[in-house]
Amino acid sequence: MLKIGIIGVGTVGQSVCQILEENKDIITARAGVEIKPMIGAVNNLSKKRDVNIKLTDNIDDILEDKDIDIVVELMGGIEEPYKVVKKALKNGKAVVTANKALLAYHRYELQDIAGDTAFEFEAAVAGGIPIITALREGLGANHIQSIKGIINGTCNYMLDKMIKEGIEYDIILKEAQDLGYAEADPTFDVGGFDAAHKLLILASLAYGIDAKPEDILIEGIDNIQKEDIEFAKEFNYSLKLLGITKKIGDKVELRVHTVLIPNSEMIAKIDGVMNGVSVVGDKVGETLYYGAGAGGDATASAVIANLIDIARKGKGSPMLGFTKSLEDGLSLVDIDDIETKYYLRLEVDDKSGVLAKIAQTLGDNNISIKTMLQKSASNNKANILLSTHTCKEKNIKDAIKDLENSKVVLSKPAMIRIEE
Ligand code: HSE
Repeated sequence: MLKIGIIGVGTVGQSVCQILEENKDIITARAGVEIKPMIGAVNNLSKKRDVNIKLTDNIDDILEDKDIDIVVELMGGIEEPYKVVKKALKNGKAVVTANKALLAYHRYELQDIAGDTAFEFEAAVAGGIPIITALREGLGANHIQSIKGIINGTCNYMLDKMIKEGIEYDIILKEAQDLGYAEADPTFDVGGFDAAHKLLILASLAYGIDAKPEDILIEGIDNIQKEDIEFAKEFNYSLKLLGITKKIGDKVELRVHTVLIPNSEMIAKIDGVMNGVSVVGDKVGETLYYGAGAGGDATASAVIANLIDIARKGKGSPMLGFTKSLEDGLSLVDIDDIETKYYLRLEVDDKSGVLAKIAQTLGDNNISIKTMLQKSASNNKANILLSTHTCKEKNIKDAIKDLENSKVVLSKPAMIRIEE
């Protein structure tokens, strides 16, 4: 029997216990041994939980119990779980974590500490989708050319509802929170940080890149306006928060932001709270993974997959995870050097010379206009909506600054990247 201690018995922890009980026969058959949750550590012992295990408010009751084989870390946060996971690994216990923020900062140190002890994290990215296993095992023969993922269900749910039903941002955020999709602090979702944590994990598996959230471009969905949604609808684009990593020569690009994607792209069809990840390998071509990215049972499904795997391999088998030397000599693309296409929305006075000034400013910054549309607004004002050919992030930022300084635009220009 493999004995499990769970740290953090919230929605996911309770699902882990329930599924281990409900699907005991099939799980035991697959694992070759019974996997039994023994004890859970919680902050508040008086809160009612739907589990049949002993509960404690002292984490050391798990970490120092010689009978516990595997620690499942579901506590959330970064520095506290870092200490807990470190101690568990040092005490020789295998660890399974769903904690993407912890891994975004400490994945390489923890892997070093783990050594030959199992340290698994399937549930940390895209909940129930086995994307970690796909990258580590199924796509092992490939150089990964790109990964593009809808890896935050809250943002996907919100954007979808805003586009399809015209529901306002604040109302739909509250709904996503009530449905239990959002993080405890929802700015992690809408600010793009949760997706960035997950993207960093995927990029490590693909490229061995040891970047932190502070090193990469992260923007959320909080600046999307009604006019941008109308533009997306009118021009057959979907609006998605994407995590993108690509290998270009000896550089790796890493970024999280809202994008306009043509409705015809497969990833544009991933709606609601669902997650989807497209991975392009040099030999296999494009592969697409789809499923529930959040929720108790879906996340617990991934946690238990790791428990079964550990049971099968035995605690001593080396983990196949973050390898810094995976692709020698790769470095991160500077944010200013990222190249993509852009959509701009500029509020202007509807008068002569304005368009010429905008075209001049963009041209001066090496930006070529691809399409342009003027929409009249009230009081002799208008919105200029334009898309660009591929250009550098630095050029678009400089152009926006120049437009603001020139007083041609009446409010802060809106900019959304286009992914085609
Ligand atoms: N808040 C996350 C999301 C939960 O919305 O995707 C799963 O990581």
